Amino acid sequence: MRYPMIGALVIMLFPVAAHAEGDAAAGEKAFAPCKACHAFGKNGVGPNLTGVVGRKAASEEGYSYSAALKGSGITWDEANLREWLKNPKAKVPGTKMVFAGYPDDKKIDDVIAYLASKK
Ligand code: HEC
Repeated sequence: MRYPMIGALVIMLFPVAAHAEGDAAAGEKAFAPCKACHAFGKNGVGPNLTGVVGRKAASEEGYSYSAALKGSGITWDEANLREWLKNPKAKVPGTKMVFAGYPDDKKIDDVIAYLASKK
Protein backbone atom coordinates (compact mmCIF):
# COMPACT_ATOMS: atom_id res chain seq x y z
CA MET A 1 0.00 0.00 0.00
CA ARG A 2 1.98 2.98 1.22
CA TYR A 3 5.31 1.33 2.00
CA PRO A 4 7.53 3.86 0.19
CA MET A 5 5.82 6.62 2.21
CA ILE A 6 6.49 4.81 5.47
CA GLY A 7 10.18 4.56 4.59
CA ALA A 8 10.29 8.32 4.04
CA LEU A 9 8.45 8.92 7.30
CA VAL A 10 10.86 6.80 9.29
CA ILE A 11 13.76 8.83 7.94
CA MET A 12 11.95 12.10 8.68
CA LEU A 13 10.92 11.06 12.18
CA PHE A 14 14.24 9.64 13.26
CA PRO A 15 15.68 12.93 14.61
CA VAL A 16 12.46 13.51 16.57
CA ALA A 17 12.56 10.01 18.04
CA ALA A 18 16.18 10.49 19.03
CA HIS A 19 15.22 13.54 21.09
CA ALA A 20 12.16 12.08 22.79
CA GLU A 21 12.68 10.58 26.21
CA GLY A 22 10.29 7.69 25.58
CA ASP A 23 10.71 4.59 23.49
CA ALA A 24 8.07 4.41 20.72
CA ALA A 25 8.39 0.62 20.33
CA ALA A 26 7.72 0.07 24.03
CA GLY A 27 5.01 2.71 23.74
CA GLU A 28 3.18 0.67 21.12
CA LYS A 29 2.85 -2.14 23.69
CA ALA A 30 1.91 0.25 26.46
CA PHE A 31 -0.79 1.64 24.14
CA ALA A 32 -2.71 -1.70 24.33
CA PRO A 33 -5.37 -0.50 26.83
CA CYS A 34 -5.95 2.64 24.75
CA LYS A 35 -6.92 0.54 21.71
CA ALA A 36 -10.22 -0.35 23.35
CA CYS A 37 -11.31 3.21 22.50
CA HIS A 38 -8.75 4.82 20.19
CA ALA A 39 -7.56 4.23 16.65
CA PHE A 40 -5.29 6.10 14.27
CA GLY A 41 -6.98 7.61 11.25
CA LYS A 42 -10.55 7.36 12.50
CA ASN A 43 -12.76 8.22 15.45
CA GLY A 44 -14.13 5.43 17.63
CA VAL A 45 -15.32 5.52 21.23
CA GLY A 46 -12.51 8.05 21.60
CA PRO A 47 -11.20 10.56 19.05
CA ASN A 48 -8.71 9.77 16.29
CA LEU A 49 -5.20 10.08 17.73
CA THR A 50 -3.27 10.59 14.48
CA GLY A 51 -1.30 13.81 14.88
CA VAL A 52 -2.54 14.39 18.43
CA VAL A 53 0.84 15.59 19.73
CA GLY A 54 0.83 19.36 19.27
CA ARG A 55 -2.90 19.44 18.45
CA LYS A 56 -5.41 21.60 20.26
CA ALA A 57 -7.58 19.50 22.61
CA ALA A 58 -11.04 18.58 21.34
CA SER A 59 -10.28 19.67 17.78
CA GLU A 60 -10.73 16.42 15.83
CA GLU A 61 -13.50 16.96 13.31
CA GLY A 62 -16.60 14.82 13.55
CA TYR A 63 -15.96 13.73 17.13
CA SER A 64 -18.38 14.62 19.90
CA TYR A 65 -16.21 15.78 22.81
CA SER A 66 -17.28 16.50 26.37
CA ALA A 67 -17.92 20.13 27.24
CA ALA A 68 -15.11 19.77 29.79
CA LEU A 69 -12.47 18.91 27.21
CA LYS A 70 -13.82 21.47 24.71
CA GLY A 71 -13.50 24.18 27.32
CA SER A 72 -10.10 23.07 28.60
CA GLY A 73 -7.99 25.31 26.36
CA ILE A 74 -5.28 22.63 26.38
CA THR A 75 -2.81 22.03 23.57
CA TRP A 76 -1.44 18.49 23.65
CA ASP A 77 2.24 19.17 24.13
CA GLU A 78 4.30 16.59 26.00
CA ALA A 79 3.83 18.20 29.42
CA ASN A 80 0.03 18.25 29.11
CA LEU A 81 -0.09 14.73 27.72
CA ARG A 82 2.01 13.53 30.64
CA GLU A 83 -0.44 14.96 33.18
CA TRP A 84 -3.43 13.68 31.18
CA LEU A 85 -2.14 10.11 30.95
CA LYS A 86 -1.19 10.10 34.61
CA ASN A 87 -4.76 10.97 35.62
CA PRO A 88 -7.25 12.16 32.96
CA LYS A 89 -9.95 13.12 35.45
CA ALA A 90 -7.57 15.22 37.53
CA LYS A 91 -6.27 17.02 34.45
CA VAL A 92 -9.72 17.65 32.96
CA PRO A 93 -12.51 17.21 35.54
CA GLY A 94 -15.65 16.10 33.72
CA THR A 95 -13.88 14.42 30.80
CA LYS A 96 -15.64 11.40 29.35
CA MET A 97 -12.39 9.48 28.85
CA VAL A 98 -12.70 6.55 31.22
CA PHE A 99 -9.12 5.60 31.90
CA ALA A 100 -7.64 5.48 35.38
CA GLY A 101 -4.20 6.66 34.25
CA TYR A 102 -0.79 5.06 34.21
CA PRO A 103 0.97 4.93 37.58
CA ASP A 104 4.26 4.44 35.74
CA ASP A 105 6.01 7.54 34.28
CA LYS A 106 8.18 5.46 31.96
CA LYS A 107 5.07 4.02 30.29
CA ILE A 108 3.69 7.52 29.86
CA ASP A 109 6.87 8.73 28.15
CA ASP A 110 6.87 5.65 25.92
CA VAL A 111 3.23 6.13 24.91
CA ILE A 112 3.86 9.81 24.15
CA ALA A 113 6.83 8.81 21.94
CA TYR A 114 4.53 6.33 20.19
CA LEU A 115 1.81 8.98 19.70
CA ALA A 116 4.44 11.40 18.35
CA SER A 117 5.38 8.81 15.72
CA LYS A 118 1.77 8.79 14.40
CA LYS A 119 1.63 11.91 12.27
C1 HEC B 1 -12.59 3.68 27.75
C2 HEC B 1 -12.23 4.41 26.57
C3 HEC B 1 -10.88 5.09 26.52
C4 HEC B 1 -9.64 4.59 26.86
C5 HEC B 1 -9.29 3.22 27.43
C6 HEC B 1 -8.69 5.64 26.54
N1 HEC B 1 -9.33 6.73 26.04
FE1 HEC B 1 -8.45 8.48 25.42
N2 HEC B 1 -10.28 9.29 25.11
C7 HEC B 1 -11.49 8.63 25.28
C8 HEC B 1 -12.58 9.57 25.11
C9 HEC B 1 -14.06 9.23 25.22
C10 HEC B 1 -11.98 10.83 24.85
C11 HEC B 1 -12.70 12.17 24.66
C12 HEC B 1 -12.74 12.81 26.04
C13 HEC B 1 -13.66 14.00 26.18
O1 HEC B 1 -14.27 14.45 25.20
O2 HEC B 1 -13.75 14.46 27.33
C14 HEC B 1 -10.53 10.61 24.85
C15 HEC B 1 -9.58 11.60 24.60
C16 HEC B 1 -8.22 11.38 24.52
C17 HEC B 1 -7.25 12.37 24.14
C18 HEC B 1 -7.54 13.80 23.75
C19 HEC B 1 -7.74 13.85 22.24
C20 HEC B 1 -8.20 15.16 21.67
O3 HEC B 1 -8.51 15.15 20.47
O4 HEC B 1 -8.27 16.18 22.38
C21 HEC B 1 -6.02 11.76 24.17
C22 HEC B 1 -4.68 12.38 23.85
C23 HEC B 1 -6.24 10.39 24.58
N3 HEC B 1 -7.59 10.19 24.78
C24 HEC B 1 -5.25 9.46 24.71
C25 HEC B 1 -5.45 8.18 25.25
C26 HEC B 1 -4.38 7.24 25.52
C27 HEC B 1 -2.92 7.44 25.16
C28 HEC B 1 -4.96 6.15 26.11
C29 HEC B 1 -4.28 4.92 26.68
C30 HEC B 1 -3.40 5.20 27.76
C31 HEC B 1 -6.38 6.42 26.19
N4 HEC B 1 -6.64 7.65 25.66
C32 HEC B 1 -7.32 5.52 26.71
C33 HEC B 1 -11.66 7.30 25.57
C34 HEC B 1 -10.67 6.44 26.02
